[in-house]
Amino acid sequence: MKKILIIHYSQTGQLTDIVNSITAPLKKIEDVCIVYEEIKPRPGFDFPWSATKFCDVFPESVEGIPCEIEPVHFDPNEAYDLVILAYQVWFLAPSLPITAFLDSSDAKVMKGRPVLTIIGCRNMWLLAHETVKQKIVESGGRLFGNIVLGDKTGNLLGVLTITIWMLSGKKKSFLGILPDAGISDQDIYDASKFGDIVSDAVKNNDPGPVQNRLNAHGAVTVVPQYILFEKRIHRIFKVWSRFILKKGKRGNPGRKFRVRLFLVYLFIAIAVIAPVSTVLSMLAVRLKKDEIQNAIGYFSENTFLF
Ligand SMILES: Cc1cc2nc3c(=O)[nH]c(=O)nc-3n(C[C@H](O)[C@H](O)[C@H](O)COP(=O)(O)O)c2cc1C
Repeated sequence: MKKILIIHYSQTGQLTDIVNSITAPLKKIEDVCIVYEEIKPRPGFDFPWSATKFCDVFPESVEGIPCEIEPVHFDPNEAYDLVILAYQVWFLAPSLPITAFLDSSDAKVMKGRPVLTIIGCRNMWLLAHETVKQKIVESGGRLFGNIVLGDKTGNLLGVLTITIWMLSGKKKSFLGILPDAGISDQDIYDASKFGDIVSDAVKNNDPGPVQNRLNAHGAVTVVPQYILFEKRIHRIFKVWSRFILKKGKRGNPGRKFRVRLFLVYLFIAIAVIAPVSTVLSMLAVRLKKDEIQNAIGYFSENTFLF
């Protein structure tokens, strides 16, 4: 019997839809046991967000300080043929519930097992995935493959539509003017093609990795300018996160002022700094062609450098 464990968390249900689409072909494997484990933060994160609560998860996300989660139901000593970890990105880092799982003793379930990651995000996942890969390797897991689904609208339009979605709860087109927020229904539906590849590998006892086969179907797209853009934003995020954390933990009223200050910064960054930085990154990409080409290869292949 083939045993597959799927660890996932989704706030809006978007990542759950992606997981269901990708894992549908796995259910057709003969004699398969699939265990779905939803990571549940305690207490849960309210959706839609208020602007302040949204920014209040920022310092802990950036610094990798986990939230509390409910105990899992699976047996972490069970030998699974494949572990699938589906996660979303919060502030260029894995979301807090996923960080909590990866830091828990239950992450040992990945030891010696092939691990497939599924990312559902807006468009910036490179640095978050570095963290996740590192934690998988530290738990003794083997990187088996990575599938990334993101929002395909332009960066600024994407920021606008996702902000409306996160603060109003409405993913569908705002007033019929803007495109739908997040990952398109079509892309989610089409993601089952990745499940076919993973399913073949499991059936054939192929220990992987399957990244080349997944990439041939568009599993990972690395946008060159984001390689530099993410690094630049991350450096600034680090300064802000430490500044806010000096005033206490998440939910502490003492840090509310600094959290609001960060919110103001975020608006300015999106409206003014991001467009300038995008242009600068595009220019830098032209100047640093070899470096960028190597980085694209590195992020596409899902390897890990120690
Ligand atoms: C607090 C917060 C921060 C986010 N930061 C990022 C980010 O840095 N990069 C990115 O591509 N998406 C970011 N997103 C979008 C999420 O990765 C994800 O696509 C969205 O929240 C829907 O996921 P869900 O399935 O959990 O509902 C962020 C979302 C939230 C709520």
